[in-house]
Amino acid sequence: MSVMLSKIARTAARFAAWYRTPSGMLSLLFIAGAIALSAAQQTAWALVVLTGWLAFMLPHKLTRERRDWEDAVHALGNDGDQKVRAVSSELEAVNAEVRRMFADLSTIPTTEEIQSWQLSVESSQQRTNQSFRSDLDAVVESHTDLEALVTRIADDVEALSKQVTDGRDTVDWTISRLNTRMDKRILNEVQSVSALYSLLEPALPLPPLGGWALSAEASMVLARLTLRNQPELIVETGSGSSTVITALALAKNGRGRVVALEHDLGYATATRQMLRDRGLEKFATVVDAPLKDYRIGGTEYRWYDIPDGEIDEPIDVLLVDGPPGTTGPMARYPAVPVLLDRLSTLATVLVDDANRDDEVEMTSLWQSQFNLFRVDSTDDALLATLRFASEPNV
Ligand SMILES: C[S@@+](CC[C@H](N)C(=O)[O-])C[C@H]1O[C@@H](n2cnc3c(N)ncnc32)[C@H](O)[C@@H]1O
Repeated sequence: MSVMLSKIARTAARFAAWYRTPSGMLSLLFIAGAIALSAAQQTAWALVVLTGWLAFMLPHKLTRERRDWEDAVHALGNDGDQKVRAVSSELEAVNAEVRRMFADLSTIPTTEEIQSWQLSVESSQQRTNQSFRSDLDAVVESHTDLEALVTRIADDVEALSKQVTDGRDTVDWTISRLNTRMDKRILNEVQSVSALYSLLEPALPLPPLGGWALSAEASMVLARLTLRNQPELIVETGSGSSTVITALALAKNGRGRVVALEHDLGYATATRQMLRDRGLEKFATVVDAPLKDYRIGGTEYRWYDIPDGEIDEPIDVLLVDGPPGTTGPMARYPAVPVLLDRLSTLATVLVDDANRDDEVEMTSLWQSQFNLFRVDSTDDALLATLRFASEPNV
């Protein structure tokens, strides 16, 4: 009921609104005129007025309704377009989503692929396990090896420490032996110097001994040999203090001569001065003998160039103490091969620095090549005495 009432009210309100518009008011005038004419029994006029109202109102109403309808259609068209566009774009979005889903679907692995992956993962796991096990075995094995190695190293260390202890003992022993030998050498030298003074009774002090010159011990061997054997000719290679000692011994003998070969003019002059100072020129000659090339047994050597006539009789004693080793390898080797034919049958060959490598090789060559053999050497092993086993091999 209330719905109906409100509907009636709404319709009335709409009519009232419409009748307030100019066309509404005009319609009201027509209706009022028609009613008035009809009340005045002017029915025909009332009909004319009504017809005129209809003729006026109907096209107006139709025109309005048509316009409203067109507006509605137009609005509906706009709205529809929008809706169509919205629906199209939604459709497009849905299509895109569907396409994406299809694309995603194509990336999803197949069951076969998943199974094959599973298999490969399992087999690689198996392989890893196996390799890990074999690595573990290797580690265990190498650990065992390492243990053995450590044990061996520990043994070695123990052995080494024993060797070190032994070595230290040996070093201590060697040092004490060296000390003893040094003491002995010093004692020897002192005793030899003192013996030289008593044997040779020099008017002036003896020249310096040791170092580049013969040691006191070697000088004693030379002096004693000279005094005992009374040689006529002593030849020495390399002049110096030894020339003075020999000359002093020969002077004691009152006979004989030493010929010292000297390649260095300075040393020759110095030796001559020492001899002059002691009045020994009669017993000693320093011969200037520069070094020259010799070819012996296919090998080149530099040795003294002996002027003719300086060695005019057999050599009884040959003292080999020059030239210096710096002039070449086996520098003193030529002494015996060059002078062999001038050495007397009973000649004594004295070799200084006999413990040096070159001299050791040299004397051993002489022994094998010239029948020389070592008969003696000083305590300090510096001076070796050699003799011929038989006639010198010329
Ligand atoms: C070992 S030295 C001869 C030493 C000599 N027999 C003596 O007892 O005095 C050999 C040669 O070296 C040279 N010489 C000597 N003393 C030297 C020195 N202090 N420095 C460098 N050369 C030296 C001389 O030419 C000598 O002939």
